[in-house]
Amino acid sequence: MAPKFVVFGGNGFLGKRICQNAVTAGYQVVSVSRSGKVPHSTELNDKQWIQEVQWTAADIFKPDSYHALLKDAANVVHSLGILLENENYKKTLSKSPTTGSKSSLFSLGAGPNPLRKSSPYFTYEMMNKQSAIILANTFKQEIIKKGKKEQAKINERSFTYISADKGFPMIPSGYINSKREAEIEIERMHEYFRPIIMRPGFMFDEHRNAIGPRSFIHSALELLYCGNKFLLQNKLQFMNDLIRPTVSTQQVSHSILTKVEDSNFKGIVTLEEILKT
Ligand SMILES: NC(=O)c1ccc[n+]([C@@H]2O[C@H](COP(=O)([O-])OP(=O)(O)OC[C@H]3O[C@@H](n4cnc5c(N)ncnc54)[C@H](OP(=O)(O)O)[C@@H]3O)[C@@H](O)[C@H]2O)c1
Repeated sequence: MAPKFVVFGGNGFLGKRICQNAVTAGYQVVSVSRSGKVPHSTELNDKQWIQEVQWTAADIFKPDSYHALLKDAANVVHSLGILLENENYKKTLSKSPTTGSKSSLFSLGAGPNPLRKSSPYFTYEMMNKQSAIILANTFKQEIIKKGKKEQAKINERSFTYISADKGFPMIPSGYINSKREAEIEIERMHEYFRPIIMRPGFMFDEHRNAIGPRSFIHSALELLYCGNKFLLQNKLQFMNDLIRPTVSTQQVSHSILTKVEDSNFKGIVTLEEILKT
């Protein structure tokens, strides 16, 4: 039987491309999300691989709801987190061209946050850090249950954490700090699995409609990146640190699969390395 590949957040923006790549590579793929919903796609290409994934519902903060899924998992991916401690921005980014407007882009994170009281999980600490630690610990416990002989087969297992390249201008430092803190905790578990830490920058989907808030941000960032490269010739280090290349979800997923399949690899995969893969 093909090795099992479990993607938390597998129906998300990046997660679905990780699932797609893992199916193509021949894994038995399971997606876990609260809704368990199949991702929406109008792409003909997507229809086939989507049928191959087991779309399951569970809450990452409730290990009892999914620990059994991890029992025989070879590779686990954590692909969920937040950019702002305000759920409204996700809705803004995913707005369709007909309902989204450019002006709404500039209000990302602004306005009331009705979920703040009702959703104690919607913080950097919980969504970006604790959710990953809880998942990695649950995976670790399942490995320990198998006994010392199985535990020793570290190279056959991996845990991938989707971190981030750097913080973004106007985004609170809590975002990148929570990512870095999670990285440290996951790397500490290297005696149980190979930790793979991905550090992508702003992501876009190669097959997604070229209109809408995310595409608008993508084009603006690409323009700045080209300006810095060709006009300033990357001579100003502070500009190079500020203006980073964008990367597609397809490139990130491809890089993840490459690292998962390299049984000797563990550690950090930088944005530059992702772009080279
Ligand atoms: N997007 C970017 O440009 C970018 C850039 C750098 C780094 N990243 C990082 O990449 C990762 C993936 O980002 P993304 O944009 O793909 O996120 P996304 O589209 O919001 O996907 C996250 C998925 O996680 C699921 N989820 C949320 N809470 C959950 C819970 N408690 N238990 C189980 N599943 C849960 C959601 O599905 P349900 O609602 O059905 O639960 C959702 O499909 C994140 O760590 C993010 O910080 C993203």
